Amino acid sequence: MVLSARDAVRTDTALFWALRNELDLKGSWYGNGAGMCGTWTVHIDGQATFACQMAIEGLADSEITTIESL
Ligand code: FES
Repeated sequence: MVLSARDAVRTDTALFWALRNELDLKGSWYGNGAGMCGTWTVHIDGQATFACQMAIEGLADSEITTIESL
């Protein structure tokens, strides 16, 4: 699935929680949350990023690709 960060409602959360809880994209699982396992990797404007480590604030104009699009 390719979406815009504008699709999320809350802006005060990590991208991971916005995707999972607000947009119901549950194709990946939360791992260690420390930015080491990569279980919740998404592409933001084509760059692989750990969604657990990324605040959604500031991503409004970004294109986010999740595992659901594979
Ligand atoms: S949950 Fe493991 S890197 Fe984010």
